[in-house]
Amino acid sequence: MNETFDKIKQQVDALLASEQADLEEIRIRYLGKKGELTALLRGMGKLSPDERPIFGQKANELRAYIEAALEEKKAEQKKAAEANQLKAERLDVTMPGKTPILGKRHPLAQVEEQLVNIFLGMGFDVVEGPEVEYDYYNFQALNIPENHPARDTQDTFYISPKVLLRSQTSGVQVRTMEKQKPPIRVISPGRVYRSDEVDATHSPMFHQLEGLVVDKGITMGDLKGTLELFAKKMFGNDTKIRFRPHHFPFTEPSAEVDISCFVCGGEGCRICKGEGWIEILGAGMVHPNVLRNCDIDPDEYSGFAFGLGIERIAMRYFNINDMRLCYENDVRFLKQF
Ligand code: PHE
Repeated sequence: MNETFDKIKQQVDALLASEQADLEEIRIRYLGKKGELTALLRGMGKLSPDERPIFGQKANELRAYIEAALEEKKAEQKKAAEANQLKAERLDVTMPGKTPILGKRHPLAQVEEQLVNIFLGMGFDVVEGPEVEYDYYNFQALNIPENHPARDTQDTFYISPKVLLRSQTSGVQVRTMEKQKPPIRVISPGRVYRSDEVDATHSPMFHQLEGLVVDKGITMGDLKGTLELFAKKMFGNDTKIRFRPHHFPFTEPSAEVDISCFVCGGEGCRICKGEGWIEILGAGMVHPNVLRNCDIDPDEYSGFAFGLGIERIAMRYFNINDMRLCYENDVRFLKQF
């Protein structure tokens, strides 16, 4: 009798010695309904009444022993599993990190933001207009009737005879004056389109920033003062501006405005192509016809408007020599700014 019990005990000990011992299998094999110890207890009936209690006690002791051993092993296995997991998941904080690739704002967006901030500082509001525009706002209301030669210089993409991709942001002048009566002080940055061939200085899509001020008693002096302050803030305090007579159908008088070169200060260099001056925008006093088209009385109110090319300024500012680079999104180009 003792021998049998001892044998089972040894077997269990041997099985449990293995680290990977399958505890459930061992439990079933010895303590299960068809298990070895259970079988022994079933055979108890054959024993003499004297032997039975001793046998029963021994059997219970063995059961308790196996159960305790299984519990102990279970705890041991759990601990080992946890230790393994910790080992597998351990972070080596001394390993070099992976630097995430950081993007930057596009040079055009950077320049636009600077321009907008300068004008916000001067009390301008920012307004927006649609890129798909009526012929009326892009041309007609701006004193450019059908067959006017100015349409040739701003040939654009037509969606229908009366709807087009705007060739300038100046239409926003009209949209603003229709909605809002003076005093008006707004800028409007945005995309414009022209059916130009792509080359180093032309693109069928580019960006402009329009400015419009309308109030009682606005003069060319206000236009000059505003643009001079803008030029100093954007290109440095020593910057000078120069007005050259020009023609736009929607301003009278009109001018093209240059700034003294912010690199050489006017001596002539590579950036200003030896001229000392850089053309940056078109401007003028809002034409009385345009005011009338918006139900604003030109005898009571006057205003000035200006429009600048964002690419043109960004290219000078960052010394970019080919406009196409601005639209290719090549990170080797973009990360330089
Ligand atoms: N819209 C003109 C252009 O695209 C620029 C401009 C704007 C001129 C406002 C005068 C006043 O060339």
